[in-house]
Amino acid sequence: MQVNIDLGLFRGTMSAEKSFHMTPDEFRRHGHAVVDWIADYHSRIESLPVLSQAKPGQIRASLPAHPPAHGEPFEGLLKDVENLILPGVTHWQSPNFFAYFPCNASGPGILGDLLSSGLGVQGMLWSTSPACTELETHVLDWLVSMLGLPEKFLSSSTGGGVIQDTASSAALCALLAARERATDYTSNQKGCDGRIVAYASSQTHSSLEKAAMIAGIGVTNLRLIEVDENFSMRPDALARQVEADKRAGLVPCFVCATTGTTSSNAMDPIAEIARVAHQHDLWLHVDAAMSGTAALCPEFRHLQNGVEFADSYNFNPHKWMFTNFDCNCFWVADRKALIQTLSILPEYLRNQATESGAVIDYRDWHIQLGRRFRSLKLWFVIRHYGVEGLQHHIRRHVQLAQTFALWVREDESFELAAPVPLNLVCFRHKAGDAANQTIMDRLNRSGDLFLTHTKLNGKLTLRLCVGQTHTEARHVERAWKRICEEAEKLSAK
Ligand SMILES: Cc1ncc(COP(=O)(O)O)c(C=O)c1O
Repeated sequence: MQVNIDLGLFRGTMSAEKSFHMTPDEFRRHGHAVVDWIADYHSRIESLPVLSQAKPGQIRASLPAHPPAHGEPFEGLLKDVENLILPGVTHWQSPNFFAYFPCNASGPGILGDLLSSGLGVQGMLWSTSPACTELETHVLDWLVSMLGLPEKFLSSSTGGGVIQDTASSAALCALLAARERATDYTSNQKGCDGRIVAYASSQTHSSLEKAAMIAGIGVTNLRLIEVDENFSMRPDALARQVEADKRAGLVPCFVCATTGTTSSNAMDPIAEIARVAHQHDLWLHVDAAMSGTAALCPEFRHLQNGVEFADSYNFNPHKWMFTNFDCNCFWVADRKALIQTLSILPEYLRNQATESGAVIDYRDWHIQLGRRFRSLKLWFVIRHYGVEGLQHHIRRHVQLAQTFALWVREDESFELAAPVPLNLVCFRHKAGDAANQTIMDRLNRSGDLFLTHTKLNGKLTLRLCVGQTHTEARHVERAWKRICEEAEKLSAK
């Protein structure tokens, strides 16, 4: 069917048409205001309560029930961010943020992210923006040497790296590739038959359980191996479980070792786990979500001895490497296994570059199709700080955490609850769970600092992680002072 349109008439109407878009000049003006607002926010962040004091529903209640029928002036938007949104923000970028693991931003990271938004690129294929793919490949190759990772992860070798949104997605991709490899690439076609098993420790991040659900392996087929007194996986227990599963006719395919568990920053013995993995042909995935950043400093690399045996590895620059969320770096030793697992090529994505085999199409390296230009922010961070700058801040954070651990050790009322290999201190007041809960609740309610808890050996344990971009000695000193003050109030009762 042919549709005739009078283009002359159409063009004439177009030029006279009202536009609702922001003009480049307006964008420039409002953009400057937004950057100023962000810079001011970072300057005053220490005066804001770290943990949002908002009550459930408070933020929604302050918002209009209906969307605006007509556009509003931009100045009003920024005012509402200040007045309505900020009270509901927990300030992850406060130097007094010691909770969970950090989720850092930095000047170069924010600007790189802004540029990525400005370019608005969708880099699903090499051909949809060659720079999006090639910068990513290049920066991930840089990181292999920056972190002392094995050369097999380089794109010039058998492997390669890709940016995922999160460590959870990286684990899922690794598990899927392991499942496919173990079933001779048939389970994508036929589904799983319930015989495939995978292994992690009882301390492994919950994202592995979620990956087992999504990958069709099933949570009961993810064996949680016991840990030793330092919360590290026991390779002998792993070996016994794999052997038992094989005897039962099951198909072991995957093991996850962690460099720096979430609960207590325990280090799994990768080299010994690798020996079991090698013997039974398991895919070895190393999850170094936060602590992987420490490998920028050669003196901390021993914590992941054995990484050279890994089939895949990941860490989150969005945690400790000053790169805005989201940014997970994921490497595989054999990219063919990953691509064969995740590749799908509908007609509408076919193009000459792909057919030539000369390019990387990252859509084959993760779950989703579309992808942002995330490598820009990572590139900016690495170029701004340089290896020297990154090492400086990581070393400083570790030193501050070690000093804090020393204060805990020397105080009769407190005890350390786990070894402190890097920047996470797990500790508790000796008066028991209720006392620790009270100390934490009061501190967090005060807004002075924010810390979180875990349970180790069944006991409530406080976690203080030094890793926020701008945390300095004075913040850690004040945190300890405030903790001691709250502890003294308890005994004064
Ligand atoms: C060791 C470890 N693995 C995985 C994750 C999940 O991270 P993400 O939010 O990137 O999925 C975390 C989060 O803290 C973690 O500590």
